[in-house]
Amino acid sequence: MRILAIETSCDETAAAVVEDGRVVKSSVVASQTDLHARFGGVVPEVAGRAHVELLGPVVAEAMERAGAAGPDLDAVGATIGPGLIGSLLVGVSSAKAYALAWGIPFVGVNHLEGHLHAAFLEDPEMALPAVVLLVSGGHTQLVHMVAEGRYRLLGQTIDDAAGEAFDKVARFLGLGYPGGPAIDRISAEGDATAVAFPWGLRGEGFDFSFSGVKTSVVNHVRKHPGAATADVAASFQEAVVGVLVEKTRRAAAAVGARSICLGGGVAANSLLRERITAAAAEDGRRAFLPSRAMCTDNAAMVGATAWYRLRIDGPTPLDAAADPNMRLPLEA
Ligand code: KG4
Ligand code: ZN
Repeated sequence: MRILAIETSCDETAAAVVEDGRVVKSSVVASQTDLHARFGGVVPEVAGRAHVELLGPVVAEAMERAGAAGPDLDAVGATIGPGLIGSLLVGVSSAKAYALAWGIPFVGVNHLEGHLHAAFLEDPEMALPAVVLLVSGGHTQLVHMVAEGRYRLLGQTIDDAAGEAFDKVARFLGLGYPGGPAIDRISAEGDATAVAFPWGLRGEGFDFSFSGVKTSVVNHVRKHPGAATADVAASFQEAVVGVLVEKTRRAAAAVGARSICLGGGVAANSLLRERITAAAAEDGRRAFLPSRAMCTDNAAMVGATAWYRLRIDGPTPLDAAADPNMRLPLEA
């Protein structure tokens, strides 16, 4: 079964052709980062308009690279939520139009479930149950993946998402946008022990809090204007990654997970990848770290999820609306 998948929930315009939910025939991502950089963050109106311009060519390229034509496809999937409403609408409306024109089913995909499925594309044998740390610009969740499609929420951020904290701190430090990669890079030259920033909610369950560390960075720099930016960045990264790894590790032990998996844009962070790998090895669990391209927003993960959902739930009605606040389908 070949599915054309579309992802436009935030600022990447992406399309992919995925076979049987596991084989990526093509995956094209047009990033709008440059368009938003001068504003220091994603501007929803700008993102929506850019999706309108980019989606047609991106879909055409994904189809061409896969050697696919409309009539060869079995379904069209698109991210239906959560995300920016103006951005979601572009992908959802286009996907419905393609489905209608080619006479094939439309499948609405939950973006978060997409991130959870990304791992299966690169490791179909991923040992379950797994604990997945989903960390992006919009989300920070610890999910217990009991089996494919069966999720339990173990914890989540009570304020900023981890990526949001990276972006805000980078902006404050004058490191530009997007902040995560900038902090990752400059931290390599800094001393992570220079400042002991607070680990939010350390030792308290599986929820996270990143607004405290963000404020501490601001206060520290105001008090010590001469502090080396690389040291401050590295110390901040140490506090965020430290608490992410500590809680993920404890969660994996609590549910008896066989694997630990990362998802979302922050999963591209070098220190996080290094620490999760070491922690899993020490605890005798498998660490599964999707490639950077698979961690950040892409349509291949949407295609994998669409295939799974089509088999479980069947097609999504064409009058289903995009939902900016959609939550992960959790089991009781
Ligand atoms: O999943 P994603 O591409 O988009 C959504 O938010 O859904 O994640 C983007 C986030 C941004 O906040 C970005 O700063 C962060 O992921 N990020 C990183 C790194 N690469 C991207 N954060 C830390 N270290 C990185 N290397
Ligand atoms: Zn995402």
